[in-house]
Amino acid sequence: MNKHQVRLLPADITFTATEHESVLAAALNAGIAFPNRCQVGACAMCMCRKLSGEISYQLEPMLTENEQAEGWIFTCQATAKSDLVLSLDTD
Ligand code: FES
Repeated sequence: MNKHQVRLLPADITFTATEHESVLAAALNAGIAFPNRCQVGACAMCMCRKLSGEISYQLEPMLTENEQAEGWIFTCQATAKSDLVLSLDTD
């Protein structure tokens, strides 16, 4: 099973995500209070910005081109495909 290190800023917490779970599920399993609600890609509570790394989606979430350019991802829909650096900072 492929495991990747996910570093979460600004708290600078690192957790492990496999390719068989969402990034959100991996964070919650690690005991991190990651914002979330619906877990099906509808509420956008779990959005954060990807500063580096590769993810994939089973179902592409609705993101504007601007949001994609800024690196916004839906962590409840995203699977880690490499080590990641994510940020919950909104600016
Ligand atoms: S938890 Fe609702 S969109 Fe991810």
